[in-house]
Formats: sequence, structure tokens, C-alpha cells
Amino acid sequence: MATIKGEIHMAVVLSGIGGFLPPRVVTNDDLSATLDTNDEWIRTRTGISERRVVSDGLSTGTLAVEAGARALRSAGVSGVDTVVVATTSPDRLCPAVAPEVASRLGMGPVAAFDLTSACSGFLYGLAASAGLIASGTAESVLFIGSEAFTTLVNQRDRGTAPIFGDGAGAVVLRRGEDDEPGALGPFDLGSDGSLADLLAIPAGGSRQRSADASLGHDSVPTEDWYLRMEGRPLYTQAVERMTQSAQAVLKRTAWSVADVDWFVGHQANVRIVRAVAEELEVPMERVAVNIDRVGNTLSASVPLLLNDIAASGDLKPGDRVLLSAFGAGLSWGSTALVWPDIRAEHVN
Ligand code: COA
Repeated sequence: MATIKGEIHMAVVLSGIGGFLPPRVVTNDDLSATLDTNDEWIRTRTGISERRVVSDGLSTGTLAVEAGARALRSAGVSGVDTVVVATTSPDRLCPAVAPEVASRLGMGPVAAFDLTSACSGFLYGLAASAGLIASGTAESVLFIGSEAFTTLVNQRDRGTAPIFGDGAGAVVLRRGEDDEPGALGPFDLGSDGSLADLLAIPAGGSRQRSADASLGHDSVPTEDWYLRMEGRPLYTQAVERMTQSAQAVLKRTAWSVADVDWFVGHQANVRIVRAVAEELEVPMERVAVNIDRVGNTLSASVPLLLNDIAASGDLKPGDRVLLSAFGAGLSWGSTALVWPDIRAEHVN
């Protein structure tokens, strides 16, 4: 278990935001037509009523392009010199999706790469992107969390199928001043790989490749191509890790809990977000939630939620925001910022 407590000395400012959801809506009732589940169980146990799912050729890359274009528009810029995509459901195992996203956004030969950190991908990617700017390697970064993760979830497994949804959220980052609204605060990042098996897709990687009998490979059971999740221990870990990580950031910002206008936590389960807020003693009216409409969208979760509350006008320029996420790895991360005066478009 390791925790990095990095400080960004050159200020890095969030200057644009955008989101995109695939149009196909899958309600809890739709799921219960083919799965042994029901709307009441899913809503009361997770807070989810419906989620969006890719169809008609949409994939992580296409969602990322749409969200990225909106974030660039919000920032009022046509290009950046680096594109980073956080995803755990890339279009292909090779190559990374970010170069193609950059090309399709008309960026030219910019730096572009993917980063994998499941549901904490947005916090890790934000820290990595900010680090590129702080080190002088990049001037500005388009950072996108994009997922078509439902393609990796076994739609016959009632333990996981109701939980996940697809979507993308993006931000533009640039160099700025410490006291400027949008300046990213300290980061707290951590992991515990000894619990990696609590949330994992066994096959498809180098440990368990595709079955090719002619090469002497063992056959791979169909279930191994899909996500396996142990919900209960993950729930406990999520509450503990997000709470500790958010507290670590709070301590280093010198904000008190009363200063926090919005707690924006990764949307894995509304009960997890509320439990973390309770531990932090953040009042529930300051806890942002959109899981009811989108489910768990992994690395897209936090930026989609920020975009939602900014577009609705609930999140206002000057508001103090505490961000925290937790996911497979296990991995987690948190940061804080004062919300800048930027435009956010409603997500379809
Ligand atoms: N519909 C109906 N019943 C279901 C069901 C479904 N979709 N899924 C499970 N059940 C049943 C179980 O079989 C079990 O029945 P039993 O008591 O007869 O054995 C019962 O509901 C309770 O199951 P359990 O898994 O203990 O429920 P839970 O309250 O822990 O909720 C999760 C399950 C997955 C919603 C919850 O554990 C969770 O959110 N965990 C964290 C997951 C997470 O964060 N994952 C991503 C990390 S980013």
C-alpha cells in the first residue's frame, strides 16, 4: 500500500468541461425483463434507476471525441498540445485510444496516451495531466475519462449488470496562477494491489490470453472475459478509502468541512457516497448525485457529475469542491478546487 502526497507547485487550472452520454437508455425494468432482478432492489441498493449503454457502433473513442469537443468549446480553445484518455474499456487492447481521439478532434501530431485506473481514473488522470503541465512538458491538456464498460460486464450476471453505464466526461487544463479559480489543489492518491481480485476481468490480458488450442493455450471460460466483483468487501473499502483520502486533501487545503460547498464523489453506489459524506460530516444537501440516471461510469463518473451540476447552475463559480474516487486496483484519489467561471452544456 502506497500513498503519494504530491503538491503541484506550478498552478494548473481547469478551464473547460464537457460530457457526453450514448443515447440508448436502459431502465431497471428493461433489465428485469431478462435478469432475475427488479427496479425496487436496484434503486434501494444502489440508487440507480437507469443507465446509458453504447449501441449503433458507439465506443469509448467516439464518446471521448464528443465529450472532448464540448470541453474544448467550454474552454474557448480549438486545440491543446496533449490529449490524455483515462479508460478501462479501450476500443482495442492496442493501440491506445487517445491518439485516434486527438486526430478526430483535428489536433495534429500532439502527445496522446491512455491511462488505466478504473473508477479512480479521473483523479489519477487529473494528477498526471496536471503534472505534465507543472513540469513544463505540456502547455495545456485535454483530459477525458471515457468508458463503454458495459461491453465488459456480463449481462447475465445480476450482481454486476445493473450497476454500470457508459459515458464520457472531459476537462481542459492549462497553466495558471495559484489563487485563480479552477486551480487544482493538492492530490492524495493511493492503492492496495493485494485486493486486486475484488474487482477484476480475469481474461484478455497477458495472464490469460485467448484460447488458441493450436498454440497449446487452455480454453478460457466465457465468464472470465467479463467483470467479476465482490460487492460487500468493496463497499467497505470504498467508504474507508474515499473518506481517508478526502480528509487528507482537506487537511492540506486548510479548508474546514464547513467550507466545502460540494462533495463530488465517484458514483458507484449512492449509499457509498452518502456514507462517505456522513463520515466527513458534509451535509447531504452538499453531496452531488447523478447515479440515478447514469449508473457507475468509472473514469467518466466524476467529470460527468461536475458537468451536470455546473450546467444546472447548482455548482457556481467560487464554490469550493472536494473530489474523491475509488475503484479497482484497488486505487483511490482525491483533490479540491474552487470552481471557475466556465460554461457547461447540458449533457443529452
Ligand atoms: N437483484 C435482486 N437481488 C439481488 C441482486 C439484484 N440485481 N443482486 C444481488 N441480489 C441479492 C443477493 O443474491 C443477496 O441475496 P441473499 O441475501 O438471498 O443471498 C441479496 O440481494 C444481497 O446481496 P448483496 O450482494 O449482499 O447486496 P449489497 O447490499 O451488498 O449490494 C452491491 C450489492 C453490489 C450494490 C453493493 O455491495 C455495492 O455497491 N458494492 C460496491 C460495489 C462497487 O463499488 N463497485 C465498483 C467499485 S468502483
